Amino acid sequence: MAPKYLDINLLRRLLRYVRRHLMLAVVVLVFMLGFNLLSVLQPYLIKVGIDEHVANQDLNGLQHIVLLLGGILLGAFVCQFLFSVLVQWLGQKLLFDLRLDLLQKVLDLSSDYFDRTAVGKILTNVTNDVEAIREFISEGIVTVIAELLKVVIISAAMFLLNYRLALLAFITIPLFVLATALFRRSIRTGFRGVRKANAEINTTLNETITGIREIKLFNVAGRAQQSFAGHNRHYLSAYLRTVHSYALYFPILTLVSNLSMMIILFYGHYALGMTVKVGEIFAFFAYINMFFMPLRQLAEKFNMFQSAMAAAERVFRLLDEPVSIRNQPAAVTVSQLVNGEIEFRNVEFSYNPDSPILKDLSFRIRPGERVALVGHTGSGKTTIISLLNRLYDIQSGSILLDSQDIRRYDLHDLRHQIATVPQDVFLFTGKLGENISLFQPEISSQDIETAARQVHLDRFIRMLPLGYDQNVLEEGKLLSAGQKQLLSFARALVRRPAIIILDEATANVDSATEQLIEDAIQNLLKGRTAIIIAHRLSTIRAVDRILVLDHGRLVEEGNHETLMSRRGVYHDLYQMQAFLSN
Ligand SMILES: Nc1ncnc2c1ncn2[C@@H]1O[C@H](COP(=O)(O)OP(=O)(O)O)[C@@H](O)[C@H]1O
Ligand SMILES: [Mg+2]
Repeated sequence: MAPKYLDINLLRRLLRYVRRHLMLAVVVLVFMLGFNLLSVLQPYLIKVGIDEHVANQDLNGLQHIVLLLGGILLGAFVCQFLFSVLVQWLGQKLLFDLRLDLLQKVLDLSSDYFDRTAVGKILTNVTNDVEAIREFISEGIVTVIAELLKVVIISAAMFLLNYRLALLAFITIPLFVLATALFRRSIRTGFRGVRKANAEINTTLNETITGIREIKLFNVAGRAQQSFAGHNRHYLSAYLRTVHSYALYFPILTLVSNLSMMIILFYGHYALGMTVKVGEIFAFFAYINMFFMPLRQLAEKFNMFQSAMAAAERVFRLLDEPVSIRNQPAAVTVSQLVNGEIEFRNVEFSYNPDSPILKDLSFRIRPGERVALVGHTGSGKTTIISLLNRLYDIQSGSILLDSQDIRRYDLHDLRHQIATVPQDVFLFTGKLGENISLFQPEISSQDIETAARQVHLDRFIRMLPLGYDQNVLEEGKLLSAGQKQLLSFARALVRRPAIIILDEATANVDSATEQLIEDAIQNLLKGRTAIIIAHRLSTIRAVDRILVLDHGRLVEEGNHETLMSRRGVYHDLYQMQAFLSN
């Protein structure tokens, strides 16, 4: 579906962004108008100079005209300069606002949105689309308004000067319209091809780089090369098509405007027998040149308009995306730590309506209790954790924290009570210390170091040249998997949560850090309610109670010994995992 060149609703919303900088927009318009009027005045003044002063050898009058012309030139210069700078400024301000709004939206959106949406799409929204909109504002719509205005002023000037000559000059307009229509169609298909090929090139490049290990290991570099070459060829041929169109269009326009001048020169003088003055001819030639220039620019802008409208559509769609998880009107704020009592009461949940994940799930965890969640992959363990953190809301039943429905808590406060250590740790660009505090200013470096010491990460950090100030390189090659795990423990510990959750946090630990991690976990759990999802049976043995999950149902519950003696799901799991873990 190709969007329109101009969509009133989209424009209206864009205008709302412009309105935030109304003064600036008005100033831009004033300078634009000033520049246009002054530049249309110039040929007229020259005409007057030639026809009235040069022709009559009136040196004094000529002097005045030249001075006036100088003043006008200067004025036009200043207007053009200020207009060019300010219109870009306006565009940048818009870009700034729009980007901030988009990031805020991305931060507000709930997990279900990200489940449905590819990351690349959101990135395109925030970068390319916003840029396309900026271009539309500062180089598109304002210029087009300016140019259209100029066309009107020029036409008026021509008619006022000599309406018969004006009519003659306009004879070639149908030719111009025809050439433009053909040009537009041709570059539209051309650019569509360029965009498509460009996307293909990016995708292939992206895949090649992220999948470089697989490409090398499986010897499939040839295929990557081939498909890349194919996309490049598409790009080339599509691009050449636009080049041909441009190369043809501009000379044709020059031809058309020159044709107008020829018509005026010959036909006007001979056939109509008009008495035309030299200055008038000069002014007309200047106006004809001026007249076709803006039209030409307009034709060029069509593409920009179309992609800007498509971009605006996407950006606003993202901004309009409903936020499914938000605070209730009278959310309870919690300033102190909760006791940490957790209860699931007849919880039903599904990510998609047609496939239920948790079915009539009920359990209770006492304050300070340590509970292990076990079950086959896909049985719903991680889902339970996401629900407790309110990354998703349940469809029926209730989840209680200290006997209060979690939906009644302020979201921020709720998540503040719970620290979740996920299986894979994400490191942000920044220093090691900042990766523990996650840039929270209220967490002191003292706290960071204490937490790091308690989870035995401190000794590794001290060995680094810059210690806690060491920058975490992209992808965090600085730390081993085990050390990253310790870092995520420190991240949790430094927040002093009431509840701690480990979601397969020890799954990819190397044997060098294993002992440290066992000990770190003990420090982490001290005095807290804990939910532990683990492969490692040694970790599970140390808990108070084990909940066994199967296909979203709680099927068994008890300690290791009683569950083993039941010879049920837990027994099977144990038999399987006994071989896997040591
Ligand atoms: N974001 C999601 N969207 C849709 N389905 C999901 C999502 N996350 C998990 N699931 C599905 O929910 C089920 C339970 O997943 P999960 O809670 O991750 O299991 P576990 O942690 O026990 O391995 C699985 O069938 C999984 O495919
Ligand atoms: Mg999981």
